[in-house]
Order: sequence, then C-alpha cells, then structure tokens
Amino acid sequence: MGQKKLIKFAAIKAYENVLEFPQDMQGKWAAFFDALNKGNTSIDIVNLTISDNLVVSSDFSNNNDDNRSKKITLELACGRGEYAVGLGRMFPEQNFIGIDLKGNRIWKGASIANKDGLKNVAFVRSQIELTSNYFAKDEVDEIWITFPDPQLRWSKAKKRLTHPKFLRLYQQFLKKDGVLHLKTDSPLLYNFTLKVIEMYGLDLIYKTDHLYAEQKIDPRCLIKTYYEGLDIAQSNKIHYIQFNIDKDLPLEQDEVLKEAIKDIPMDAGELIRMEAEAARAKKEA
Ligand SMILES: C[S@@+](CC[C@H](N)C(=O)[O-])C[C@H]1O[C@@H](n2cnc3c(N)ncnc32)[C@H](O)[C@@H]1O
Repeated sequence: MGQKKLIKFAAIKAYENVLEFPQDMQGKWAAFFDALNKGNTSIDIVNLTISDNLVVSSDFSNNNDDNRSKKITLELACGRGEYAVGLGRMFPEQNFIGIDLKGNRIWKGASIANKDGLKNVAFVRSQIELTSNYFAKDEVDEIWITFPDPQLRWSKAKKRLTHPKFLRLYQQFLKKDGVLHLKTDSPLLYNFTLKVIEMYGLDLIYKTDHLYAEQKIDPRCLIKTYYEGLDIAQSNKIHYIQFNIDKDLPLEQDEVLKEAIKDIPMDAGELIRMEAEAARAKKEA
C-alpha cells in the first residue's frame, strides 16, 4: 500500500468525526453529535446515551440545539463526501453522515469538516451492507446515493444500491416518510431504479434524466462530487430521482424484476465507463 494511503488511514483513526465499523451505535447518533459539538477529544461510544424517543417529542422539537430534534441524512457510497460536507454547510441545523468503505476517500471529506469546524458532519467507514447495524429504527430521515458504481453487468444487478435487496436494508432505519435521492450519470442505473419504483409500487417524487437542463433545480442537486466531475461515461447528462420506500417489497417480486431488467439497454457511454473503470481498478490494485 502506498505511503499516502497509510498516512490517510492513520489520520482517520485519530479523527473524532470518523467511526470505523462502529459497534453499538444504534440510537446513539444524537448523543454522538452532542459530544462532537462539545469538542470532546475522545468520544466513548459505549457511554453515549441511546435516544429515549427517536420520534421527536414536543419537549425538544423546538430546541434547535438539541441533537435529538435534528434530522439525520446519510450519504451512501460517499467517496470523498462532497454531499455530506456540502449539505452540512447548507443545513447547519441538521446532521450528516457519509458512509464508504474506502478510508483514503473518506479522509478528504472528514479533513475538510474538521478544518472548517463542521460539527454536524461525520463519516462511517464500512460496507453499506452493514448499515442496519449502525442505525436504529427511524433514526434516519433521508438518504442520498451519489454516483454509485452502476454495476453494469446484468449478473451484478443485486449489487446496485437501489436494488430491492438494499431498499429493504434502508427500510430498517429510514423513517416512513423518509426520502431517498439517487444522483447518477448512468442511464442504466437510472432506468433500473425507475423499473424498481414501478414494479414495487413505490412513490416517485421527482425524476429527471437531464438535471442541469431543468428550469428549476433543487439547490442540493448543485453540489458536485468528484465522480460527477470525472464524467466517466462522457455523457454530460446527470440523472436524478427522488423517491419514497414506504411499501412492502415482496421477495418473490425480485425474480420478476430479474427478468424485466434484461430489456434495459446499455448505451455507448456505459461501455466507455466499463473500460475506464476496468483501467482504474487495474491502476489502483
Ligand atoms: C463511483 S464512487 C462514487 C464516490 C462519490 N459518491 C462521488 O460521486 O465521487 C463509488 C464509491 O462507492 C464505494 N462503495 C461501493 N460499494 C460499496 C459498499 N458495498 N460499501 C461501501 N462503499 C462502497 C466505493 O468505495 C466508492 O468510493
């Protein structure tokens, strides 16, 4: 492993705003952000208090300083965490957590949050598959999935972060009215996600296959990530979906989905992406 990566790994181990595969964190995020705000130098997860009531009660819903009343938003596959940091700046009264497996990428966002004193931004280094271990039921208000690997091969569809397999995972901690956002440059992932929404009867709140051509753009969508800047598929078109996952997602429907998605075409840009990703993976190995 390169020297630079080792330095970044060591750095995030010392950062209070990064937790690596944390144990015993369910229900404790409000207390964690309290401690981060106080500038505690060594946050002891074991002794953090579990929020007594994850549904905000009138006792503290008007108290802007109380982290129990603050919304928690996750950025999944956050990479360098542009959304966690960007949203953290836009909404100082809310809390944001970026999740990614790669510590050297998380280091970037965590370092910026530390340098700029953003006490409402934290990161978890972990596989997304483990997120239900870290959050209690209803602890999360919103999820952003930003430029995830589209997992273009049909055989890898189950690894797409909007596959029902993952949506069932998010349902374990996302509030019932919680919103899920997908921002991607992959038409295949965009069309796949729309197919999932349609087949499982989910509530589509908003969709566009050309975000920046829209007349009115949600300011949150203007945050740009590292991968967005790479424009790997050379399409210059950003796709965006907002939806709600408050429905049963029957397992038996997954087999029907498996067949239905065979028809989703792969455009030329996706082939460029596949080659670029293969070259990048080879370089990183
Ligand atoms: C294409 S990058 C996008 C990063 C960032 N969102 C951006 O737009 O620049 C995808 C990221 O997802 C992360 N990732 C992929 N699968 C993951 C998993 N199962 N658990 C955690 N992170 C994962 C990778 O480490 C990588 O940083």
